[in-house]
Amino acid sequence: MKKTIETERLILRELQLSDAEGMFELDSNPKVHLFLGNKPVKHIEESIENIKFIQKQFADLGTGRWAVVLKENNEFIGWSGIKYSTDEINNHKNFYELGYRFIEKHWGKGYATEAGQAFVDYAFTEMNVEKLYAYTDAGNENSRRILEKLGFHFVNSFEYNEEIEVWYELKKPE
Ligand SMILES: CC(C)(COP(=O)(O)OP(=O)(O)OC[C@H]1O[C@@H](n2cnc3c(N)ncnc32)[C@H](O)[C@@H]1OP(=O)(O)O)[C@@H](O)C(=O)NCCC(=O)NCCS
Repeated sequence: MKKTIETERLILRELQLSDAEGMFELDSNPKVHLFLGNKPVKHIEESIENIKFIQKQFADLGTGRWAVVLKENNEFIGWSGIKYSTDEINNHKNFYELGYRFIEKHWGKGYATEAGQAFVDYAFTEMNVEKLYAYTDAGNENSRRILEKLGFHFVNSFEYNEEIEVWYELKKPE
């Protein structure tokens, strides 16, 4: 089992089936899915399947998304983490990619950036990743701002799933 990461306000840990209600609150909100293809989930069973899928990614590839919970009350607020992407995206294949998704009432408090920083550090120090990648919908200003705060730099725009996306990279510090 992988370890737990603690930041100032957050605990980052493995996703569990008991996170299903939180995952459903997250993924049933159309505002959360505005820049994710506009397909919010309709039934909690979809969230349960998603958790199982992420758990399998961990078993197969050794990395994936983690649950983010508040230290103060153990509340599930969303997920973040490093996924090993085997799809071909923007002419890249088999790369480590940072992602994040939070329940709407927890936006605007710096949690996504706090968790993102912890995963950037984890990728470079514990996982020995040489380069991290991230991409988002070109119009997702909040997501782009997180990447810029974490030190990622913009590389190019590209078309993916009929949307204009933006590609970012971050090299392991010397
Ligand atoms: C994208 C998303 C994660 C952004 O979340 P967020 O909470 O706005 O992101 P941050 O953690 O950077 O916090 C944002 C603000 O919190 C504010 N903040 C408040 N208290 C803070 C604190 N103690 N420390 C740091 N920032 C704080 C900051 O000022 C920051 O705003 P700024 O960048 O304009 O200065 C969120 O909108 C989301 O989950 N969207 C849906 C899913 C999605 O689009 N995911 C990305 C797909 S690639």
